[in-house]
Amino acid sequence: MLRLLVCVSGGGTNLQAILDAIDGGTVANARVETVISNNAGAYALERARRRGIEALCISPKDYAARADFETAFCAAVEERSPDLIVLAGFLVKVPDRLIADFPRRIINIHPSLIPSFCGVGYYGLKVHEAALARGVKITGATVHYVDGGMDTGPILLQKAVEVKPGDTPEILQRRVMEEAEWKLLPQAIDMIANGRA
Ligand code: GRF
Repeated sequence: MLRLLVCVSGGGTNLQAILDAIDGGTVANARVETVISNNAGAYALERARRRGIEALCISPKDYAARADFETAFCAAVEERSPDLIVLAGFLVKVPDRLIADFPRRIINIHPSLIPSFCGVGYYGLKVHEAALARGVKITGATVHYVDGGMDTGPILLQKAVEVKPGDTPEILQRRVMEEAEWKLLPQAIDMIANGRA
């Protein structure tokens, strides 16, 4: 059984996709044991609580210094010794110490086809605004292992999504979530949980 710790910052639709896939059986041998958010108001925490899953908020706002936040965040994760850490709409840079302690055991979902529209400053709607501004006809999502960079680790899965005439950033984001993100993240977890990664 792969024990998952999921990190979130927002609405938690990617977390919900994981939970639904586990319930539905398309993800085998995995269980979400803890959800951690940097944002107390993240609806993702409510999604976890409804399922009786440990839901923690560890926010930089609660610490005088960034280093204190990082120490608390790393301690909370390491205490739980997850098999896999999943960044699902998590907008905080993972401390290098945690990346060192969990080599190839942290994955992230990014809403573009890396190496396009990724790296510092590319998150949430900004990714889709950039794709529309560039005029790409195809975008998509990527699941990759997390290394010390921003969206730079080894790519595990990608899925293409068509950009359609008249798309707004919001419409495109929703299509990328529905057609790519919510499929890829559960698929990646199932691969890792069942020795196919
Ligand atoms: C989505 O745009 C996702 O691509 C990005 O974070 C945003 C919110 O995700 N990773 P969620 O609904 O909180 O899972």
